[in-house]
Amino acid sequence: MQQTGPLAARGVRCRAPAKLNLYLHVTGRRDDGYHELDSLFVFVDVCDDIAVRPAAAFSLEVDGPFADQIPAGADNLVLRAARLLAEFAHGSFVHDSFVHGRKALGRPGGAAITLTKILPPASGIGGGSADAAATLRALRMLWGLQVTQDELAGIAGRLGADVPACLASRALQVSGIGDVMEPVNAAPDVFFLLVNPGTPLSTPAVFEAYRDRNGAFSRRAPIYGPAGQLRDNGARARDLTDALSSRHNDLEQPALDLAPEVGLAMAVLRTLDGCLLARMSGSGATCFAMFETMAAAATGAAILGERFPSWWIAPARPVPGPFQPCPWQA
Ligand code: C5P
Repeated sequence: MQQTGPLAARGVRCRAPAKLNLYLHVTGRRDDGYHELDSLFVFVDVCDDIAVRPAAAFSLEVDGPFADQIPAGADNLVLRAARLLAEFAHGSFVHDSFVHGRKALGRPGGAAITLTKILPPASGIGGGSADAAATLRALRMLWGLQVTQDELAGIAGRLGADVPACLASRALQVSGIGDVMEPVNAAPDVFFLLVNPGTPLSTPAVFEAYRDRNGAFSRRAPIYGPAGQLRDNGARARDLTDALSSRHNDLEQPALDLAPEVGLAMAVLRTLDGCLLARMSGSGATCFAMFETMAAAATGAAILGERFPSWWIAPARPVPGPFQPCPWQA
């Protein structure tokens, strides 16, 4: 039954940060068609936003600059995440549980979810996966669930290869199909400029184009050791970009075949003062440049904003870990 009164107006919000693949080697292909990867993931402070309120049923409303590109139907990853968590919670839910000293605001019967879409969809920065991970975190708090982090990661893994990494939302050395993660303890201070020329790219389509090219697989070349430390070097931005320069993104060429403007995005990023390295993220089309200072990234954003007014452009810094869900007065 729908709650009324003061509790009904209260909800939980959680930010969903963008993911960057600083390099991405495709190292093999499994029998089920999924590709084995070797990648360094970093999460940055450009985010979608998830807000949840108690409700009798599940609903999803999408607002923000990219709302019109997001299907809000039942197969939306946010709604699938909510349903899966509710199913899981059915057996383990404790109605009068207290979470972080607060009484649970709802029960896993339903939720009114609002997604504010700031990140360009289908753009290689994991927006959909991040939204699903933030939904799991927000609903765990809203419903006061006694679900452990490992259990939440298990649910995340059923939603997509990248969703467990998005749940962790910290620098990670990643392998498997994107589901095997080693946390990186000492990510150097480095700043980013993200640009997207506006062409959505479907991840399966880019992997298919990669397959059609029939190239040899790349070797695994993790930059961070098992203790999470940068191999060989210190923690300066240049040490990381030196290490990255001998690595690459194997999906760049197939993405370029489908969206040639990716080449223009990388080329103009490389002309910016202080750009240490420019590369495509994930399956594209978002590209990023790395800088030693946030000021250099912001200056680059202003220059490109004037030259390419239709592009999505965002300076960003790494986040050290996931944003905590927080109570919200709707
Ligand atoms: O796991 P997710 O739903 O994000 O993946 C979308 C698609 O991308 C998969 O269906 C698959 O075609 C491709 N993919 C892949 N290898 C990966 C991850 C994704 O081939 N490691």
